[in-house]
Amino acid sequence: MKAFFERFLNLNILALLIIGLSVFGLIRYIDYRFSNLEKMVNLSEKNLSIVDNQNKKDIKDVYDLVYNTQSNITDVLAKEKQNNLQLSDQFNQVADTVGVLKKLSTTDPELLKKYSKVYFLNEHYSPISLSEIGVDYRSEKSINYQIDSDVLPFLEKLIEAGNRDGVSLKAFSAYRSFITQLNLKTSYKVSYGAGANKFSADQGYSEHQLGTALDFTTLKTKGALEGFDKTIEYNWLLGNANKYGFIISYPSGNAYYKFEPWHWRFVGVALATKLHNENKYFYDEDQRVIDSYLVNLFDK
Ligand code: DAL
Ligand code: ZN
Repeated sequence: MKAFFERFLNLNILALLIIGLSVFGLIRYIDYRFSNLEKMVNLSEKNLSIVDNQNKKDIKDVYDLVYNTQSNITDVLAKEKQNNLQLSDQFNQVADTVGVLKKLSTTDPELLKKYSKVYFLNEHYSPISLSEIGVDYRSEKSINYQIDSDVLPFLEKLIEAGNRDGVSLKAFSAYRSFITQLNLKTSYKVSYGAGANKFSADQGYSEHQLGTALDFTTLKTKGALEGFDKTIEYNWLLGNANKYGFIISYPSGNAYYKFEPWHWRFVGVALATKLHNENKYFYDEDQRVIDSYLVNLFDK
């Protein structure tokens, strides 16, 4: 009986040992599998991180590329814009120069020369275009006075402005051809001899041949030239004629002829105003300075 119990006990101990060893083995196995799984997860996470970093780097590279390309395009556009502005400036300068050359090529350079015993116009010289001074603007209705066509609008504006200010100016004599001046001077010589040279130019030296000079009168003096310096019309001309481009050619004390308050010449608004503001006379100004105003002669 005792042997039976001992044997039974030994068998149970053996079974327990086997069960214990089995449980232990199972636990070690499970632990091993979990540890492998954990390693795999770690590896995957690591790989994912590497891939993620690589992706981030790639995206940054692409961004840098796009940004740099955009910067380059912006630079190129800015340079192109600058080039276009420079081209536009150059084009405008060329256009201005062409405009100036065109104006100069169509403006008679004689119109600003000093024609009082200095320059000479031959018998073939006549203005490019002449227009009749309207009857309302001239003293003699029956005489067809003519003036340079480009000067006519300035003369009309001057006379109209005078009318508004209560003065009544009339054109008495304007363009005179070489032959007309010759005949006039010849008749004066008959009457006054050498004295005619004090108030009448020889043919070829008269501003009247240019078509830009004229004598003013007023009906208040019944069209006479003498006494014109005492009129309000003369006084008005002194203060306002420059605004319409006219200057007095022969003021009191000039070096060429006696005082001619009635004789006015068109030299353009810019030059007339400069002379007026500087209290200077046309014949006292340097010819080179005068010539620089030719391009703006008919500017308003
Ligand atoms: N009376 C001026 C000087 C002329 O004859 O032109
Ligand atoms: Zn005159």
